[in-house]
Order: sequence, then structure tokens, then C-alpha cells
Amino acid sequence: MTDAFENMDRMYRLQRYFYDATRKFYLLGRDRLLDEMDVKPGEHVLEAGCGTARNLIILAKRHPKAHFYGLDASAAMLETAQAKVDAAGVKNITLRTALADDFRFDSTFELAKPFDKIFFSYSISMIPPWRESIKNGLENLSSEGSLFIVDFYDQAGLPRLFRSALTRWLDLFHVRYPAELVPFHQALESTGAVSLSVTPLYRGYSILIGAKKATKST
Ligand SMILES: C[S@@+](CC[C@H](N)C(=O)[O-])C[C@H]1O[C@@H](n2cnc3c(N)ncnc32)[C@H](O)[C@@H]1O
Repeated sequence: MTDAFENMDRMYRLQRYFYDATRKFYLLGRDRLLDEMDVKPGEHVLEAGCGTARNLIILAKRHPKAHFYGLDASAAMLETAQAKVDAAGVKNITLRTALADDFRFDSTFELAKPFDKIFFSYSISMIPPWRESIKNGLENLSSEGSLFIVDFYDQAGLPRLFRSALTRWLDLFHVRYPAELVPFHQALESTGAVSLSVTPLYRGYSILIGAKKATKST
């Protein structure tokens, strides 16, 4: 577990200074996810793997009456995130160093009740225990809550050369799209745990997943 903290700190110690300027060109679909989340006043919304808090700051400005939380494995990345939150002047963001598969709404964030929404933006493809992280996310959601993911997808509609160049580039950052991601959610849906929406974007470059917790009828 300690390794995940150290690895992410090592990876982002320098990158965090130019992260936002470079990632805007290839972490596509993030703004679409933020638009589709439909945050309501008073809601508590968590980003798991929030990085520099780029997404949280956009949401916090857009929804000043909602409460936003971010966790990340890299304390160094969160130092940059906190500086950006302070510079943006938003007061409704709380950040914590934690792992996506090992946080709790109460002990990690001192909250009395679970989150209304939890999202993963280009973090699932970096988290080896991604299944456990999604399950932990669902456990930390209210009974009516929703979980969202935007990440790389299978690149199926893109030229083969582009696909192999992108895969080699992402390997440098230990980023890998998990081919089991959609089947994993479909399996959850088949048990009645969630209702699912899956939207491939940009000819399969990226994918948006929405999983709303299903209230089981007795
Ligand atoms: C590619 S960045 C995405 C940052 C941000 N979500 C965005 O959209 O700009 C992935 C982030 O996930 C974090 N991360 C990786 N593994 C993690 C884990 N197991 N738990 C929590 N955060 C993790 C990394 O430290 C990094 O900040």
C-alpha cells in the first residue's frame, strides 16, 4: 500500500508543475463528464485521483452551494492542488491524501453521511486495484448516489498506427485502459446493483461511464 503513495509521488513530483498545461490536449472528455454530472446545491461530491484539482475547481466555481472533496495517492500532487484551490479563491473543496480503494467518507473526510456523487477522471487507468476502487466508491455512495468514470477506451475507431503510438506513450506513464472495465460494470448491472450508461467518445479514444446505484425493490 505504501508503494502506491511513493510511486505516485515519484511520478508527479516534477510533472505536477506542467501537468495542466500538457494534459488538456489528451485527457479528452473531462469537460463533458463535468457537464453531465448534474450536481445539485448541497450535494457532496468526491473525485478519486483528483490530481491538480483542475476538475474540482471548475465544479466548485460552477456550483458554489455544493461541497467538493478530492483524494489522491500523491501528497506532492495535492500540494499543487491546494495551491491552485487557494489561488482560485474557492472555499468548498477539501483535499486528502488517500488511496481510491481504501478511503471512507467518515474516517477520511469526517463526513456524517456517504457521498452523493463520486467520479474518477483518468485515474482508473492508473490504479492497479481498479475493481476494488470502484467497489469502494459504491460503498461510499448514498443509496441514491452515482459513480462516474471518464478514461481512455479501446481506440477501436482510430487508425492502427495512432493506437500503437498512443499505447507506447501511455506505457511511459504506467497508464493502461482496462479492457474489463465495461464488462465489470455490466456484471454489476446484471446483479441489480447499478443502472448503467456507457458512452464511447471520439471514435473510442475515451469513454464515459455512469453507474447509478439501484434502489432494490423487495
Ligand atoms: C492522470 S491523473 C488525473 C488527474 C485528474 N483526475 C484529472 O482529470 O486531471 C491520475 C491521478 O490519479 C492518482 N492516483 C493514482 N493511483 C491512485 C490511487 N490508487 N488512489 C488515489 N489516487 C491515485 C495520481 O496520483 C494522479 O494524480
